[in-house]
Amino acid sequence: MSDALNYLVKARPEAMGHYFSFLKDAGKHLDPKTRSLISVITKVHAQTERGLRQYLKRALRDGCTAAQVLDALLMAFPALGLAKIVWAVDVILAMDLPEFRAAGLGAEPAWHDLMNVNELALGATKRIECDGRGLFVHHGLQGWQVFDSLCPHQTTNIPHLALQGHTLTCPKHDWAFDVRSGACTANGDTPLKRWDSKVEAGRLLARW
Ligand code: FES
Repeated sequence: MSDALNYLVKARPEAMGHYFSFLKDAGKHLDPKTRSLISVITKVHAQTERGLRQYLKRALRDGCTAAQVLDALLMAFPALGLAKIVWAVDVILAMDLPEFRAAGLGAEPAWHDLMNVNELALGATKRIECDGRGLFVHHGLQGWQVFDSLCPHQTTNIPHLALQGHTLTCPKHDWAFDVRSGACTANGDTPLKRWDSKVEAGRLLARW
């Protein structure tokens, strides 16, 4: 949420409460992917870069593919016009999301070989790069966890230095996450993106 909206929520809680209830109720018959795509389009229409970054990540988290986001942008051409669509694509390219790289467009999710399981002791966490994606890998008592290094708030690529103990703190706005579960533990409300993982023949694999 923007600083201005945060301010209005504090200054006029009742009026803003009605506003948020309205938004929630207005989309109650839509599935999460459709809601997310409509939110992306509204952010492009208003040309709010921060909102676009935030809702684009949410759309991807809700299961939208890069191709579906591009379809939604192009379908909204009569309302957006070419200039706003190009502006949105510029913002998306600046985010450098693996899903939108030309080689990955339309690609089906696949398993990626991350590391030898002996490389990470029980209880440890490591930041790695694999096939163009930054990841935090945690070897926990309950098994392996693989999280995307892009912050779910506004897609800051969280560096290894942000990790202290089991707490990962995004340097941009201080959202904090528990790397054992991915849960957001302070300043935010959205967990890290977790990728499916498995161990095969002593290698850790993750699917995206
Ligand atoms: S981008 Fe805002 S907390 Fe990470």
